[in-house]
Amino acid sequence: MLNEPPRHTAIIMDGNGRWASARGLPRKAGHRQGAKAVERVVRGAPDLGIRILTLYAFSADNWKRPPREVETLMDLLEKFLRTKQSMCEREGVRLCVIGRRDRLRPSIIDAIVQAESSTKNGDRLHLRLAVDYSARDAIMSAASQLEPGKLDHEAFARHLNRVIHSAPSVPDVDLLIRTGGEKRLSDFLLWESAYAELVFSERMWPEFGMEDLEQAVSEYDQRNRRFGSLPPPHPESWAARPSRIEAQAATAE
Ligand code: FPP
Repeated sequence: MLNEPPRHTAIIMDGNGRWASARGLPRKAGHRQGAKAVERVVRGAPDLGIRILTLYAFSADNWKRPPREVETLMDLLEKFLRTKQSMCEREGVRLCVIGRRDRLRPSIIDAIVQAESSTKNGDRLHLRLAVDYSARDAIMSAASQLEPGKLDHEAFARHLNRVIHSAPSVPDVDLLIRTGGEKRLSDFLLWESAYAELVFSERMWPEFGMEDLEQAVSEYDQRNRRFGSLPPPHPESWAARPSRIEAQAATAE
């Protein structure tokens, strides 16, 4: 094992529409199955050592989809927030919604406030659902509110968390997974993923399950995280090698 578990894991849940089309079903059937996959992953994530899970549920650009699809997604989100509160409380899940709130309908805002309040003591998993979220918009808002001379990474990160309603602040992303076979970031957690390990899964989101999450975590586990530095010396390889002084002495002989 090379790494600690990916404390903060984020997922771009992609492939709902393709999963449904491949079965001759309407796209909304894919989103409905997608909501079930959300529940599976939320229940199982803490057993893999994940403490913060951020899921991309609706991007700021998703408003461009046909109004009926937007409505389906908003209905599913509201239903999840209203009906999964007790599951979250039982499982020790603290649920938060990050992103803009000013374009959401009042009933969703009400559901968010209730879910956030009833689950606030959850301490096994901090679940963040990103809704009406754009990383670039968030970065611009945070930057526009800070005095230029007072910029440093920590202050900026705290500000960014505030802008997207992420309370409490969370650490950077360790592992970022995208399902559905596409390989792009789609304006998700761009600042927070500066050193995230990326795992792309071919699995369509409605079929994503715990085995897939385990596989992503074990791929992460094999990565050598250097954060721009050098890898720490490996004890066995050093022991097998002569020290610099021994090597110099051997050359001099
Ligand atoms: C991408 O699939 C998925 C979304 C845009 C939304 C994700 C929504 C859910 C998983 C369901 C509801 C969420 C919650 C939290 C209850 P896509 O439609 O872009 O798939 P495609 O690329 O195959 O068309």
